[in-house]
Amino acid sequence: MSLLEVTGLSKSFSSGRDLLGRRNRWTYAVRDVSFTIDRGECLAVVGESGAGKSTVGRMVLRLIEPDTGTITFDGVDVRSLKGGQLRRLRQRMQMIFQDPYSSLDPRMRVADAVAEPLVVHSTMDAAARDRRVAELLDTVGLGSRYLARYPAELSGGQLQRVAIARALALNPSLIVCDEPVAALDVSVRAQVLNLLKDLQEEFGLAYLFVCHDLALVEVIADSVLVMAAGQVVERGGVEQIFRTPSQEYTKRLLAATPVPIPRHAARGHAGAPHPGATGV
Ligand SMILES: Nc1ncnc2c1ncn2[C@@H]1O[C@H](COP(=O)(O)OP(=O)(O)OP(=O)(O)O)[C@@H](O)[C@H]1O
Ligand SMILES: [Mg+2]
Repeated sequence: MSLLEVTGLSKSFSSGRDLLGRRNRWTYAVRDVSFTIDRGECLAVVGESGAGKSTVGRMVLRLIEPDTGTITFDGVDVRSLKGGQLRRLRQRMQMIFQDPYSSLDPRMRVADAVAEPLVVHSTMDAAARDRRVAELLDTVGLGSRYLARYPAELSGGQLQRVAIARALALNPSLIVCDEPVAALDVSVRAQVLNLLKDLQEEFGLAYLFVCHDLALVEVIADSVLVMAAGQVVERGGVEQIFRTPSQEYTKRLLAATPVPIPRHAARGHAGAPHPGATGV
């Protein structure tokens, strides 16, 4: 059984109103999308802007309610969950957003931002929580001197590391990453990407990795789901999609990408962050 099984997922949004203000036009953002993600697998979702990638990611976490379809996470029917059950499930499915500036509260110190999920969802006492927060910062390559800082005092790459530490706090098995490095300086993208890849290996994490940069996809993904206009065009292993794409759309998407980073080569250059590293 896969960790995540999605079948027939659809969502339409209204795109117009009649003279009386009633919604009268509906367009599909996502149409009949099905896929699975195994434990520890990174599935990249690629496609042009507006293809429906973010909508799929958000529906998996039920941040957007699907119109139709089923979502099964670790054998649990996600769409049937309510209130507390859904909150408990969300501990095991986390999300990392594109813009780390807007995903962190500017008035919260790093230590408090990372501790927040533990305060809300765990029964840890304050001392255990402090230890866990320090450990999490270490895991993402930030030293303890960042604990008392505010988001405005950190770089984009450091902020995204804090967001990753927060997402890891409750030991999730799946993280939905929506363009997690797109807002970062090109020079730090590879470092944050390598951190995500190291965490995947260390904790057996599965990722639903929304990304339009195919060079990055080739580095991090195990498999690829290609979407266009809300629908799945093709799905395959990362090697197969890059070497022998079967669909014209995928071939065009690949042709539009500049020189790809050879798989794994980026790791050696950027150097994976290690405990105690200052981050980026
Ligand atoms: N809340 C909404 N209301 C109306 N239309 C929406 C809403 N959210 C998304 N859409 C539409 O659904 C389609 C898919 O959007 P989505 O954000 O999922 O695309 P995407 O593949 O993530 O694109 P990008 O690469 O630009 O982030 C788009 O046409 C978009 O305009
Ligand atoms: Mg998007």
